[in-house]
Amino acid sequence: MLAIDRIRQDIEALSKFNSTPEQGCTRFSYSREDWQARDYLLRQFEQLNLSVTTDGVGNIRARRNGIKPELPPVLIGSHIDTVHHGGKFDGVLGVVSGLEALRVICAANTSHTHPIELVIFAEEEGSNFTSLAGSKALVGALDVEDLKRLVNSQGVSMYQAAKDFGLDPDSMHRHVISPGAVKAMLELHIEQSVVLETEGIPVGIVENVAGGRWLGVTLKGVANHAGATPMPYRKDPMAGAAEIISQVGTIVAAQGTDTTVATVGKIECSPNAPNVIPGEVFFTFDVRDINTAGMENVCSALIRTVKTVAESNGLRAEIQVMGETLPVRLSPFVSSELEAAATGLGLQHKRMNSGALHDACIMAGVTDVGMIFVPSVGGRSHAPEEDTRYQDIEAGAKLLLAALLRLAAA
Ligand code: HGY
Ligand code: MN
Ligand code: MN
Repeated sequence: MLAIDRIRQDIEALSKFNSTPEQGCTRFSYSREDWQARDYLLRQFEQLNLSVTTDGVGNIRARRNGIKPELPPVLIGSHIDTVHHGGKFDGVLGVVSGLEALRVICAANTSHTHPIELVIFAEEEGSNFTSLAGSKALVGALDVEDLKRLVNSQGVSMYQAAKDFGLDPDSMHRHVISPGAVKAMLELHIEQSVVLETEGIPVGIVENVAGGRWLGVTLKGVANHAGATPMPYRKDPMAGAAEIISQVGTIVAAQGTDTTVATVGKIECSPNAPNVIPGEVFFTFDVRDINTAGMENVCSALIRTVKTVAESNGLRAEIQVMGETLPVRLSPFVSSELEAAATGLGLQHKRMNSGALHDACIMAGVTDVGMIFVPSVGGRSHAPEEDTRYQDIEAGAKLLLAALLRLAAA
């Protein structure tokens, strides 16, 4: 019998491995907190006699064989890394609900034909390096050379960070999952928006996941005295950034679709002093849509605006694509299995889209993938206020277990 108290215990225990306990949850990949969280989970896996492998970038796979160990496994899982000052449910919910499903299966010795694997994907949030890095490595979309090129804000490469963490990134190719090597994958995740809560529906079945593109914009001007430099003589990259950023909403409305979103979530200024006109400003665009054209059109319009504003302010502009994923349609087969399982449980459910990205998007490139959403209180996520009711978590976890057993049965 699935025990919601064990899930609560796991979530609370993992939330303690946190570098900002006074404000939300912060657990970057390859940090001390990440190590503690992994250690906690590995001990849970040991109690279930699961066979565990950790690949070169830190993806963990905990396996329970079925009647036919040679068959491709059914995966469940998510991530345990967080954004800065994030919440305690994002990613963790999918991992601990998968753990609880395995506890129930092991305790009842439930038979299943396909092996089952619980996966913890490394570096999903990209808070340290780049988003979805673990799952991209797992499907062979990132290699060792990429890891050496990915450098964090301390100037450490993902390759070196993985090695310092005790991993063997040079062996990462040995763990790549090729198409057909896995039967299917399920990810349970908080919705991170308001739809399920507003409509009073306990679970969502995700059909499409938005694509995302991250652009890094560097504006270079002339650092100067904030008091002595008359306005007409300035080449001020902060003024340029402000002019560009103030147009984001208008550009999305004019060039995007009704599902396009664009965000400027990070801005850095140098030398970052009140009495100095900055020499350089860096900021990011995060553009998403379930519709590729919407995402492309908004990105092109933003790039045009950067160039026009830079020119009229006498600034130099550099624009880099920091990462991107295309919109993904999840597996209709797995969605129908989820729907049948939800109906079997008497769970009201709704098919919906995801504006947030997930490792499921990347895994959809090599296997049939389905996602379950549970409501976010007030639609909040990526913030200390992130919350989901345990009665909704219980419904989602029960659906995960039921759908997992359907997929692993034959
Ligand atoms: O950014 C995202 O959508 C995810 O939370 N990494
Ligand atoms: Mn997540
Ligand atoms: Mn997230």
